[in-house]
Amino acid sequence: MHQRQPDDPEIALLEREGEVTLMIDGDQAMQAWERELMCLSSDLLCQFGSTFLEVGLGLGISALRIAGNPHTHRHVVIEKYRKVIDLFQECNPSPPSALEIVHADFFDYLHELETESFDGIFFDPHLPKELREDEVLWQEIVPQLVRTLKKGGALIPCFSSYPILRWQFIPFFDRVVVDKVAFNAYRTTNYMAYNTGDAFIQQFIKMR
Ligand SMILES: C[S@@+](CC[C@H](N)C(=O)[O-])C[C@H]1O[C@@H](n2cnc3c(N)ncnc32)[C@H](O)[C@@H]1O
Repeated sequence: MHQRQPDDPEIALLEREGEVTLMIDGDQAMQAWERELMCLSSDLLCQFGSTFLEVGLGLGISALRIAGNPHTHRHVVIEKYRKVIDLFQECNPSPPSALEIVHADFFDYLHELETESFDGIFFDPHLPKELREDEVLWQEIVPQLVRTLKKGGALIPCFSSYPILRWQFIPFFDRVVVDKVAFNAYRTTNYMAYNTGDAFIQQFIKMR
């Protein structure tokens, strides 16, 4: 059993001097400067088909982009916190009809998803370091994600600020495509190694 995340953290949407930040328990969980990277990642994912899964709603930038793609038939987004969903719905009262938001912890909910039911997965939960680095946990979780993907489908994790493949996914995929994209974070951003530079979008493709 993995160490659990807080069930009822402090969640706030801060809009200040042109910067938009989703705060979870005092952490910058998501900022709107990521829009271009989120949209690019979403557009890459949408090339793989019409039915998608996303983990982590955040500001809903990628969710809206994927669900709003004219070829998207269904986009299921799993979000752990009700407050994040409420904030998204307040800001986006008429989302695309393809969008389905599920209020659940993906660690629990993954097991309920049908095998080979998605063309692509966008994987962008905000997790504490202990969970991100728990190798045993990822050895159990990633096969569950892969199980839900159709052959030829792709999993795209949140961009990386280093040109290093996301180790969690390497054992379970045979093909990885990487795109390099320049980014400019906010001056106040504290979760990137650099405030400006190159980010790397990694597409892990299920070949068999
Ligand atoms: C970085 S944000 C996602 C940003 C999103 N891609 C966007 O474009 O706005 C991460 C989200 O993952 C959610 N999250 C964290 N742990 C989760 C879990 N175990 N299950 C589901 N969602 C989770 C957080 O509440 C947060 O809303």
